Amino acid sequence: MSDFPDDFVWGAATASYQIEGAATEDGRGPSIWDTFARVPGAIVDGSNGDVADDHYHRYAEDIALLASLGLTAYRFSISWSRVLPTGSGAVNQAGLDFYRRIAETCREHGVTPYATLYHWDLPQPLEDAGGWLVRETAERFRDYAVTTVNALADVITNWTTLNEPWCSSLLGYGAGVHAPGLTLGSESLHAAHHLLLGHGLAVQALRAQHPELSLGITVNLYSIRPASDSELDLDAVRRVDGLQNRLFLDPLLLGAYPADVLADTGTGDWFAERSADLAVIATPLDFLGINYYSRHTVAGPADGVFADPAQASMLPGSERIAFVDTGAPKTDMGWEVHPDGLVDVVELVHDRAPGLPVLITENGAAYVDVVEPDGSVSDVERRQYFEGHVEACREAIRRGLPLRGYFAWSLLDNYEWAFGYTKRFGIVYVDYETQVRTVKASGQWFAELVG
Ligand code: FCB
Repeated sequence: MSDFPDDFVWGAATASYQIEGAATEDGRGPSIWDTFARVPGAIVDGSNGDVADDHYHRYAEDIALLASLGLTAYRFSISWSRVLPTGSGAVNQAGLDFYRRIAETCREHGVTPYATLYHWDLPQPLEDAGGWLVRETAERFRDYAVTTVNALADVITNWTTLNEPWCSSLLGYGAGVHAPGLTLGSESLHAAHHLLLGHGLAVQALRAQHPELSLGITVNLYSIRPASDSELDLDAVRRVDGLQNRLFLDPLLLGAYPADVLADTGTGDWFAERSADLAVIATPLDFLGINYYSRHTVAGPADGVFADPAQASMLPGSERIAFVDTGAPKTDMGWEVHPDGLVDVVELVHDRAPGLPVLITENGAAYVDVVEPDGSVSDVERRQYFEGHVEACREAIRRGLPLRGYFAWSLLDNYEWAFGYTKRFGIVYVDYETQVRTVKASGQWFAELVG
């Protein structure tokens, strides 16, 4: 039996485009990821999510598997283009029915569903009309949120609006490595603002109609440490922490954008004209979701290694900041393993909103998996990654931080965005040829932990 509080939430997470497949079935419209995945060179293995894990047809088996591990919460995302195939207007009942089936199957297994309304798959017609660069998309998001929640509020109580708006804006519109693949530099901050506005508009509308629901948002936070205590390195921390963490946490929790970030990126005037939106963005939340994977150790300009061009373009105005290799072990993504950074990021939230319940809505690691002749997958490194981070959760609780739950990323191996099917994060192995699922040793470890 776990030594965590009895009401601590233990779950696993997925996202629609990464697992569902059935891309053209039952009325689903195209999203920006269907389009981006077809751009030559955009995805390392040239693959797309047309089939993925075929979860659209195998969701019942997958939820049963999650429940068999003793996990009692399933975080999944809703595909906007299944519900509203063109992004607005006509509702596709078959799409809503699919998510009702997921929620009901969860409940039959004693699993609590946690639904995310937006995990990066904007309907393509909305991108064609300007995407997150235009304000109207925030209003369309609110409308979609209201439609979806009105249809499902009787079976789903826990909702998050957005997953990782940093990725949707800076990777999608700044660095161009995620859909829609634009390289607009600091103009990508406009997308960040419209995402946050869409979140705030949705929370306001949902609160008014459904006071019983628990509403939150998920951000991806990094622990950022200086390579030394030199002024230049501390300034590098300020800039990276600004774009990565404070650009999202401050408007959401404090009702203000970080002035230094707007100044560094030359976006102050644009944001000043929209300052009235901050009251909407800061609408109170019931919980904050954190996706935590790694720590960055950064250094200011000096001779030596600088951030690679992709990293630099994600950080407009920060091109001459080095991301230092500390020698810590790395996952197959090249991400350094630093479990105690998890405590740092929970503190970032607690500092701004003391007592606000926090969920780790994603944490996990990609490693190369080897299927043994007997079919088993002994993923020792992934298990150790989880052990370290679950220990960090214990430490956060020991320190009195309001950490209420933890979701492993991911339930299943899946489509890892621009990395296609080349990176495996699952606690369950998926054979993409046969769609056979096999619980890995890390999944068994979770079963023992929470069982
Ligand atoms: C997060 C995403 C998730 C997955 C993991 C590895 O940034 O939310 O979909 O790609 O990283």
